[in-house]
Amino acid sequence: MQSPDGNDSNGVGISVCAINMAFERRGSRVDVLSDINLDIAPRKFCSILGPSGCGKSTLLMLVAGLYQPSSGRILVNGQTLKGCYSDCGIVFQTDVLLPWLSVLGNVLLPADVKKLPKAAATERARTLLEQVGLNGFETHYPNELSGGMRQRASLCRALLHEPAVMLMDEPFGALDALTRERMQSDLTKLGATDPRTVLFITHDIEEAVFLSDQVVVLSQRPASILRQFDVNFPHPRTSDIRRTQEFHHIVDEIRELFRETGIL
Ligand SMILES: Nc1ncnc2c1ncn2[C@@H]1O[C@H](COP(=O)(O)OP(=O)(O)O)[C@@H](O)[C@H]1O
Ligand SMILES: [Mg+2]
Repeated sequence: MQSPDGNDSNGVGISVCAINMAFERRGSRVDVLSDINLDIAPRKFCSILGPSGCGKSTLLMLVAGLYQPSSGRILVNGQTLKGCYSDCGIVFQTDVLLPWLSVLGNVLLPADVKKLPKAAATERARTLLEQVGLNGFETHYPNELSGGMRQRASLCRALLHEPAVMLMDEPFGALDALTRERMQSDLTKLGATDPRTVLFITHDIEEAVFLSDQVVVLSQRPASILRQFDVNFPHPRTSDIRRTQEFHHIVDEIRELFRETGIL
């Protein structure tokens, strides 16, 4: 079934085709991405793993249509992406909640822009807040929440308009280790009940393997793809998989790849 904007109800596939990206700044040129080719199947979770400064965020901005590539193109369900990609939700490392709005007000922010009916949007916002354990905090303000809670609210806001694609740029990077692990478990639960196509940026190997169906490892800048790994554990995943041999095997392989290429 096709929705009016051409999306397949079975999800949206993303293809990154022969992408090169350079920034020109004060007459000098910085090459950031070099010949990136990548397919993310509909409703699959893909992590991009790479060293700091290699171009991970740049790649996410390209998929969001917020940057234009120097060459190459992004395909969304086989169609070339032109301009900003509106059917995606974005979560950044630091929450971008407005301090003068309540949690519910923040989650409802996209409702106007996306022209969502108010009552249905409010109901969805409340359901999302409940799913991430923030029920009871609807009237709180961001400064009354912990970092983890603020990121949960940011996640709800990004999901409000039921985007086909989620773009997440180190969303748990600023959280302490325990909170991060909890957030990872919650995200895999959310993804199992309501799977979307996810592009997830991280520099944490275990996080990438725990969450993903596909892990793409980037080299240092200008980043090219060093290798891709398939991770076949079923969803939702529990922390038990972290103790399996298969989990350790993939983590060790990626770590070895980082060592061989001088990243670690
Ligand atoms: N808007 C921009 N203008 C100029 N240079 C940029 C811009 N965005 C990123 N860069 C440069 O591109 C490189 C990769 O940045 P980024 O994609 O943020 O890396 P990562 O997310 O992997 O840490 C860095 O050298 C950064 O300085
Ligand atoms: Mg970044």
